[in-house]
Amino acid sequence: MADTTNTIKHVASPLARQTLLDGDLTRPVAGVRPIRLLPWLQVVKIGGRSIMDRGADAILPIVDELRKLLPEHRLLILTGAGIRARHLYSVGLDLGLPVGSLAPLAASEAGQNGHILASLLAPEGVSYIEHPTIATQLAIHLSAARAVVGSAFPPYHHHEFPGSRIPIHRADTGAFLLADALGAAGLTIIEDVDGVYTADPRAPGGERAQLLRETSAADLAANHRGTLPLDPALLEVMATARHIERVQVVNGLVPGRLTAALRGEHVGTIVHTGVRPA
Ligand SMILES: Nc1ncnc2c1ncn2[C@@H]1O[C@H](COP(=O)(O)OP(=O)(O)OP(=O)(O)O)[C@@H](O)[C@H]1O
Ligand SMILES: [Mg+2]
Repeated sequence: MADTTNTIKHVASPLARQTLLDGDLTRPVAGVRPIRLLPWLQVVKIGGRSIMDRGADAILPIVDELRKLLPEHRLLILTGAGIRARHLYSVGLDLGLPVGSLAPLAASEAGQNGHILASLLAPEGVSYIEHPTIATQLAIHLSAARAVVGSAFPPYHHHEFPGSRIPIHRADTGAFLLADALGAAGLTIIEDVDGVYTADPRAPGGERAQLLRETSAADLAANHRGTLPLDPALLEVMATARHIERVQVVNGLVPGRLTAALRGEHVGTIVHTGVRPA
């Protein structure tokens, strides 16, 4: 058999002459923990359905709390999509749109919620920034302001995995991927319930549901049956995370919970990821 490898012109690097498909070969180079890009950043995901869809009663107290947190923390605030995306999915699915067409449409709904939130925080210098700006200029924006707002949806668009007709990578997954990629100090997910329960506390029979004060993505993936207030795909990306060791799910309808969570207090459900302390 002809030896084709010797005729390939390589640039000298530890990965030269190696297939990237062999984990044993790539691990010594690619297996190390990446640097933290923004280690002082706190990422906060605001629920679209649980907070934004409730309007002023839920949004204004959260805005007030965020405003008071600005001197203490530098924030990337990411919003979920909420009810308009659910409507959009139903119309889009009725029309037979592929999942890759639905993903950016739902992401734009999350963006609308972000624009609303950013408008309310504008007097504090907070503005909405688009995905490409988050990708390339987040640091400069956070040098100019204590916080910025973006859409929590990841920009999969037509690259969304086709296994399900509804995009599997939604706001929780997007917020986590971003927080982990940036090596942020933490991610707090704001819902309208006290955390993750053994079953939906608002569904019939929900009074029997118990709050899980502390759990792990692996445990939820293996043992939890029924619904979660989190994207199922979040559990998968948590398993292979590089920086974020835990996420806290807190009730944004209770004043002070977000503030306490950002100060490191245990006020909701702590979900451990697959990351071990360095
Ligand atoms: N096991 C569970 N524990 C707690 N809440 C649950 C559970 N299962 C379902 N829920 C429900 O999930 C609701 C929140 O819904 P969801 O997570 O879709 O909202 P959201 O995060 O605000 O939406 P978005 O993803 O658009 O931002 C809670 O109000 C609660 O009724
Ligand atoms: Mg949720």
